[in-house]
Amino acid sequence: MIRPVLGDEEAAAAAEAVRSGWVAQGPRVAEFERAFAGRVGAGHGVATSSCTTALHLALLLVGVGAGDEVVVPSLSFIATANAVRYCGATPVFADVDAATGNVTAKTVETAITARTRAVIAVDQAGVPCDLDEITALGVPVIEDAACAAGSTYRGGPVGAGAEIAAWSFHPRKLITTGEGGMLTTRSGDRARRARRLREHGMSVSAAERHASRTAIVEEYSETGFNYRMTDIQAAIGLVQLKRLDEIIARRRALAARYQELLPGYETARDPAYGETNYQSFWIVLPDDHPIGRDALLARLAEEGISARRGIMAAHLEPAYAGTTADLPVTERLTRRSLILPLFHEMTHAEQDRVVSVIAEAR
Ligand SMILES: Cc1ncc(COP(=O)(O)O)c(C=O)c1O
Repeated sequence: MIRPVLGDEEAAAAAEAVRSGWVAQGPRVAEFERAFAGRVGAGHGVATSSCTTALHLALLLVGVGAGDEVVVPSLSFIATANAVRYCGATPVFADVDAATGNVTAKTVETAITARTRAVIAVDQAGVPCDLDEITALGVPVIEDAACAAGSTYRGGPVGAGAEIAAWSFHPRKLITTGEGGMLTTRSGDRARRARRLREHGMSVSAAERHASRTAIVEEYSETGFNYRMTDIQAAIGLVQLKRLDEIIARRRALAARYQELLPGYETARDPAYGETNYQSFWIVLPDDHPIGRDALLARLAEEGISARRGIMAAHLEPAYAGTTADLPVTERLTRRSLILPLFHEMTHAEQDRVVSVIAEAR
């Protein structure tokens, strides 16, 4: 459970965008793209309406189409797999590492076939995946960094090393624009194509036409989408981005405290090669735990504590019925884990209460 950190500054920035008269995609979106790409060390940022739409564009950029396969974790929000289906392709599920919740080179490799066109590697709940070892398999990798703004990988920001990454600014993430997303990429050509695709396939953007002193007639060279972010959202995003480091510092301090107070549990934690922003703090119940996962969630709810089931597994949902997948680690994590409340203003007393309800639950 996470609560957005929003205040007067965001409200004022949104109001200013409204007063400016430019409420659709415009100069604030362009500024937010530059600021966000700069923060995550990516060459180019292309703002979108969501991470889901950014993933769809990312898959199109690497040429995924009907009949192709894309290797993805089942242990992820269902949007990761759905984006593959939007392209007419088939998601093939790879298992995850028990400690990070992320696919690894080993698990991805076993899922690769002659039809594999790409891999989506998720930074689960902010925990960075080991992107370099997955990239070394030689298949194009898209990093689903929906939850990972500000996490680090091998000494740099997550996203800096990605050929293409997709990000979310949904309120369940550390920084939010209401709804919203971003595609980042090292490639100028890919960024240009993504900009066209998010705007109906138009050869010039509305902002460019507006700025031009001569009449420009646009051209539509391929079928695009309306996946744009608005300037009102971007205005909020620019303020949120300034808060990112402070939000991460607070989440990491609270997560460290949970880890001290819950010594008997496997929890979300930093991998050897990076640091998580703790977008979600999960714990895994050991097999001999005195109370089952769903019963514990019910006990916490009775006490007014809003915990959540652990990360979902797409292959167990009706939408993916009939998918054959041998995913023992995924199934254990999704069934034995829960996500504890962790929000910016959380007090130590609130945290102690969560821990004592868990300790006393029978
Ligand atoms: C790993 C992952 N990918 C994609 C998404 C979809 O993000 P959005 O809601 O911005 O489309 C989420 C959202 O929770 C996510 O966790």
